[in-house]
This record gives sequence, structure tokens and C-alpha cells, in this order.
Amino acid sequence: MGDLSGKVAIITGAGRGLGREEALQLARQGARVVISDIDMPDAVEAARQTVEDIKALGSEATLVLGDCADTNAAANLFKTALDTYGDVNIMINNAGFCRDQTLFGMDDEQFDSVVRVHLRGHFVNMRNATKYWRGKAKAGEEVYGRLISTASEAAIFGSAGQANYGPAKAGIVAMTMGAAQLMIKYGVTCNVIMPRARTDMTNAGMTAELFAAPEQGFDAFNPENVAPLVGYLSSPEAGHISGEVMVVWGQQVDVIQRPSFGPNFQNPRGGKWEIEDLHTSLSEYFTADHTPVLDGFSVPPQ
Ligand SMILES: NC(=O)c1ccc[n+]([C@@H]2O[C@H](COP(=O)([O-])OP(=O)(O)OC[C@H]3O[C@@H](n4cnc5c(N)ncnc54)[C@H](O)[C@@H]3O)[C@@H](O)[C@H]2O)c1
Repeated sequence: MGDLSGKVAIITGAGRGLGREEALQLARQGARVVISDIDMPDAVEAARQTVEDIKALGSEATLVLGDCADTNAAANLFKTALDTYGDVNIMINNAGFCRDQTLFGMDDEQFDSVVRVHLRGHFVNMRNATKYWRGKAKAGEEVYGRLISTASEAAIFGSAGQANYGPAKAGIVAMTMGAAQLMIKYGVTCNVIMPRARTDMTNAGMTAELFAAPEQGFDAFNPENVAPLVGYLSSPEAGHISGEVMVVWGQQVDVIQRPSFGPNFQNPRGGKWEIEDLHTSLSEYFTADHTPVLDGFSVPPQ
């Protein structure tokens, strides 16, 4: 089950946190892994450690440094993977950082940098992988392609203190759904995970206390708990699962249902709505005690 022998995986942001656990997971399943992270001292040291730990498992790993959102760095990452291992089969977009702030407190740089690292970071790497797999398919070659994006529940529920991160993650979901539609005819799957885990990112944010390790018992927010789903979605067994979004943490996976239309209202007088008609129709549904969704982020009990 889940055998990835001979397969080649790229993981961005694999020096630390979730990316590191996902890299180790894929290596345990037999994949050769290209570790990527930003060229900054802490990140480089961590990424080198991930490579060493994978080698200690008896698997192969290569380190490529660079900014995940930079077109040239992403091209270099993909080319190095191809030159080193001869193919790319699994592309895991994971790298990113937060600069949390409410809408009114956020400056342009905070917005641009977070949208860039997450949304553009996914875009440039997804473009490289999907173009490569499409090219192989068109040349009549066999294709094994698995694309996994990393979003967040902030994308669907909103996050009042993350006016940059939530929209960036929502863009990632939309981009991955489009990729799934494009790539289905080539047998390539494209899915999104929305993890919850204790990492440097969450230790610095508003979930730090919530995600703290328990003194005893199962550590639900250990990032190790997220990696098996990534391993499964990368595997041959999951070849028919595409265009899905899954929240993953602890011992559970929640499949997010596809959005669908809710209540439908037709103008009772026909033709273009008048304000009065809308009020008559919609006030039946939006009654005075209708509760607006103020904060979607909640951690249901396991
Ligand atoms: N931890 C959670 O609960 C949680 C929840 C939802 C989504 N996520 C997402 O999971 C992913 C991994 O986050 P994490 O929690 O492991 O955080 P983390 O901070 O532990 O790891 C992020 C990694 O990305 C790297 N990175 C940052 N900027 C980069 C860049 N420009 N180019 C290349 N690498 C870069 C960092 O150096 C680091 O190794 C992120 O996309 C994050 O938004 C995490």
C-alpha cells in the first residue's frame, strides 16, 4: 500500500514543520525527494537536516534552495529534479509564512508578501508541473502525476486577523480546482489539504495555545499526523481522487463538500427585481434572528 518506489517528489518549504514531515513520509514510502526551502540561514540548516534524516532512512534526497514564488527559482527547482532523478511525479506546494493583521491594520507590503509567497508560490510550481505532465502525455509517454496544494480553513470560513492569508489560500483552492479539471484527461490528480498542526507558523500565531502538546496522551496537533494523507494522495491507490479539499489533523480527515446553491428566490412579479420584491422574498429567509457567521474557526472535539 502506498508504494512510491521509483517516484520523484518535490516539496517546497520542506526544511521545517509540515513540509519536513511530508518529505519524510514520502521517503518512507520509497520516493526520491527534492527538498526545497528559502536560502536563509535557519531555513538552510533545517533543510539540510531534512535531507540528512531522509538519507538516514536509506532513501535519496536532494536540496534545492530558492524562493518558492520566484519564477527562475521554481524553474531551477524543477530542472534540478529532472536532471537529478529523470522525472517528477509528485509536486507538493507547502512553503509559506504569515504576517497576521486585520484589514484595517494591514499595510500593502504585508498583503503583497503573503499573497505572493502562498498564491504565486503555488502558481509558478503548479505551472511547471502541469506543463511537464501535459507535455509527456502529448508525447505519448506514460504519466504519473500528483499535485497537492496546501490551503487553510481561513480560505472558506474567513479569518478576521488574516486579511492577506485567507484570500491567498482561497486563491490556491480555486487554482487547484481548475488544475484538477485541466489535468483529469491526463490521469493527473490535483487536491488540496487544509492542515492543523503545531509548527513555527502556528507557534507564532493565534492558535499557539490551542495547538500546544498535551502532557500525556495522543498529540493531536503533531505535524506528523498530517503527513500520511499527503502520502496517500500521492500514492497509486488514490489515482481516482482529484479536485478534493480535505481538512486534516489529529486522527481525522474531513472532506469539504463541494459548494452548492442554497435557497433560490424568483421574483414573484417576474422580470427585474424591485427593492420591495427582494425584501418580501429575502426577509422570509433572512429573518431578524438570522445569525451571521462571525468566526468560522473552531476546533471541534475529536
Ligand atoms: N500549521 C498549521 O496549522 C497550518 C494550518 C493551515 C495551513 N498551513 C499551511 O501549511 C504550510 C506549511 O506551514 P507550517 O505550519 O509547516 O509552517 P512552517 O513555518 O513550519 O514551515 C514553512 C516552511 O516554508 C519555508 N518558506 C517560507 N517562505 C518561503 C519561500 N519564500 N520560499 C521557500 N520556502 C519558504 C520556511 O522556511 C519553512 O521551512 C503553509 O502553506 C501554511 O500556510 C499550516
